[in-house]
Amino acid sequence: MSSKLGTTGLMKSHHCGELRKSNVGSTVTLCGWVNKYRDLGGLHFIDLRDKYGLTQLSFSEFSGDLSILKKCYLESTLKVTGEVRERPAEAQNKNMGTGEVEVMVTDIELLSGCDIENLPFLPFGEKEATENLKLKYRYLDLRTQKLQNILKIRSQATVDVRNILHEEDFIEVETPILYKSTPEGARDYIVPSRVHPGEVYALPQSPQTLKQLLMIGGTDKYFQICRCFRDEDLRADRQPEFSQIDIEVSFTTPEYIKRLVEKIAIKLYGLPQDFSMPVMSYAEAMERYGCDKPDIRFGLEHKVVTELFKESDFAVLSGPANNGGLIKTLFVPAEKGSFSRKDTDGFVDIVKPHGGKGVAFFKVNDGARSAGISKFITDDLYQSLVDKTGFNGDGTWLFFADNKESVVHGCADALRRHLGKTLDLIEEGYKFLWVNDFPLLEYDEEANRFAAMHHPFTMPKSEDVEVFLEGGAENWSKVRAEAYDVVCNGYELGGGSIRIHRQDIQKKMFEALGMSEEETQKQFGFFLEALRYGVPPHGGLAFGLDRVVMLMTGAESIRDVIAFPKTTSATDLMAGAPSVPSTDQLDELSMKFNKK
Ligand code: AMO
Repeated sequence: MSSKLGTTGLMKSHHCGELRKSNVGSTVTLCGWVNKYRDLGGLHFIDLRDKYGLTQLSFSEFSGDLSILKKCYLESTLKVTGEVRERPAEAQNKNMGTGEVEVMVTDIELLSGCDIENLPFLPFGEKEATENLKLKYRYLDLRTQKLQNILKIRSQATVDVRNILHEEDFIEVETPILYKSTPEGARDYIVPSRVHPGEVYALPQSPQTLKQLLMIGGTDKYFQICRCFRDEDLRADRQPEFSQIDIEVSFTTPEYIKRLVEKIAIKLYGLPQDFSMPVMSYAEAMERYGCDKPDIRFGLEHKVVTELFKESDFAVLSGPANNGGLIKTLFVPAEKGSFSRKDTDGFVDIVKPHGGKGVAFFKVNDGARSAGISKFITDDLYQSLVDKTGFNGDGTWLFFADNKESVVHGCADALRRHLGKTLDLIEEGYKFLWVNDFPLLEYDEEANRFAAMHHPFTMPKSEDVEVFLEGGAENWSKVRAEAYDVVCNGYELGGGSIRIHRQDIQKKMFEALGMSEEETQKQFGFFLEALRYGVPPHGGLAFGLDRVVMLMTGAESIRDVIAFPKTTSATDLMAGAPSVPSTDQLDELSMKFNKK
């Protein structure tokens, strides 16, 4: 073992991945799980496993009662002592770190037997357990190398981040978990107070207001690896509780935050020292990729062709073109991929979840147009499409049209991502992007009011402040924010902004979000007051640690990088959370509770 404390005080002298030829002749003690048991006609072998590896145990010189081996079922834990021997040449295993040696056991202790009859699955078995079974018995799944490696990488990532931030004079400050609403666009998890019947705490969606108050408190450079809680619809890259690397800096500009992010990315992703993130505005990202977190590891960019279809006889396209809608196209050159009827029919399933009704297309083969909407594509229109987009040659043209821009962007983005994967266009490696100039507010049609695109503490860009304060609601959607996201391989790894440090702007923001004066005072009166007593202009960002680790490890789901994750319906299958509270608990909290 390489650790400084050594093994004094541990039950073992070595771990199971450690012994080599150089250890031959020494007496060792190992502890671990039974990974495999073999009885070769009276010659007994056990492969003992721990997170570091496997060691073969041989019992051919064991003078004790061999019947103990009958109780050493797979996944039982053992402590064994014996001498390290070189294996006979024909028994050496070059694929195993410890494959040249074995331990001739003289003492064995069964530390904890495994109830093999009821064991839900073998973590190292040949048959893969279902996802739900693995989550229910997470402690068994955690025994696998895959999950242990991820936990190690995650732990190292936090060490690296802490080192970098300490090196740059940041200090880590803990902030409360029992707090008040910190809006980040999700619902709050609330905790009823026993001492104050009828009142609740809210768990932080992020420590946003708290880190700003730390800046007002003169902390200058803050960070925290913190837990955030959001009651929102879950996806492959979202959990109801997750971790952030949360950062805030006084007297900063976005440039400093970007440089800090680059320093962290260089370390975590092994990027070249001079790595600098390309910058793309939100507007450009939407136009070229239909989303604010584009995967730029492959092409297939979108082009806007709305104007060209105003005169078209094809109503599906001319409708949106003449009704203030949007039409986008993307082109798949023949050498990148071609599509069967089944493929093109299947595109509708990709765009449906985004509000799309279908994907119009035509093909060009040896210069001739065919299939799909080709009969509506005149020579003139085709020439205009080629001129406008720069797309040319044989291949498939795909069209996305709707009266709602967001539908077109969503559909074209979804199909682009689908094609990137299925046509195998995605390059290896990490492609970062710094997306900035987000709109400050977006109109929420359902709620019939504006919502903050980042969060309500984000500063409008300095050139847009006047429009925000004086321009009236009809101009709010034009106001841009001093906000930025860190995007990598199509994921939003982090997001942040320069904050509002002026009380008048902050008040206007709450007003724009439709909050009454009374509501504002109740929710954020303390915060607005703090803005009166000398505020350093400040800004920051938060990385989603789970997503950062997900990309570092190539994990497919955020669940894989969290020791005890929840399912997509926010339940913990292992412990059975959430659960119905006891009547005593409810009485203490002065609560009545109806389980549906
Ligand atoms: P934001 O809401 O963009 O910003 O969150 C920052 C980053 O946290 C990660 N993230 C999540 N990860 C897993 N599960 C979730 N449910 C989830 N939600 C968000 C993402 C995201 O980029 N206070 C601001 C930051 C700031 O302005 O400084 C904030 O929380 O990777």
